[in-house]
Amino acid sequence: MKIVVMGGSGLIGSKLVTKLRERRHETLAASPASGVNTVTGQGLAAALEGASVVVDVSNSPSFDDAALEFFQTSTRNLLAAESAAGVGHHVALSVVGTDRLSESGYFRAKMVQEKLIEDSPIPYSIVHATQFFEFVDGIADLATSGNEVRLAPVLFQPIAAEDVAGALADVTIAPPVNGIIEIAGPEQFRLNELVETTLRERHDPRDVIADPHAPYSGAELQERTLVPAAGARLGETRFGDWQRSRNGTG
Ligand SMILES: NC(=O)c1ccc[n+]([C@@H]2O[C@H](COP(=O)([O-])OP(=O)(O)OC[C@H]3O[C@@H](n4cnc5c(N)ncnc54)[C@H](OP(=O)(O)O)[C@@H]3O)[C@@H](O)[C@H]2O)c1
Repeated sequence: MKIVVMGGSGLIGSKLVTKLRERRHETLAASPASGVNTVTGQGLAAALEGASVVVDVSNSPSFDDAALEFFQTSTRNLLAAESAAGVGHHVALSVVGTDRLSESGYFRAKMVQEKLIEDSPIPYSIVHATQFFEFVDGIADLATSGNEVRLAPVLFQPIAAEDVAGALADVTIAPPVNGIIEIAGPEQFRLNELVETTLRERHDPRDVIADPHAPYSGAELQERTLVPAAGARLGETRFGDWQRSRNGTG
């Protein structure tokens, strides 16, 4: 069974490719760096030749309104190429709460991506993950103005990229669910508190301000916007353990 990982050079894609190859699956890591571009269509038909499953873990180079053009064009091109190649399972990675974040241009783009997949005749599995541990620094930077980081004090349940890749590998080799599977980390925090702890640990001087109206990716958050429903698959890695191993202190 040949598997194509679109975005195979990315954070999740590279870990997923390793996991699938460890399980002895023929796996092609595809991305613009290796001559495969879902926006222009370059290299797409050749990459998909003989593929049974395509996993889309690509991401838009920009997180603003331009993300719509990326996800719309790339998903259309990818699904059309999969149809032509006879691919039997399209797996895509999206975000827990996407449907609750429509004030955000990035999440409206992810909604369009999901709708195109659901409306296509190709059997599919959409994995909704919470924010990656690796993205917590990015959340702080995006919420920074001067010396202040303004974040809503809402529930937050991030997951290690390694655990996302593990769950995706399982979904990739299982039959399509034609629906959404939610995955999250094993612990819940408050978004502002976890970012504050992270910044304090590394003596970052920025102040974290709890602001219920602070936007996240342009959208206002409610208490449970970012957390999954009961029954989500949970990763094993705890945030503190991951942080200690990243800092070389664990
Ligand atoms: N960040 C989070 O916390 C979070 C949480 C849940 C879900 N997600 C979702 O996870 C997915 C993957 O995120 P990530 O952080 O692993 O991404 P990433 O590290 O930024 O990697 C993006 C990948 O997309 C590829 N790519 C960019 N433009 C492309 C194009 N035109 N054609 C084909 N491939 C293209 C890149 O290839 P090159 O290296 O060749 O440029 C790279 O391999 C995203 O869809 C995101 O919505 C993210």
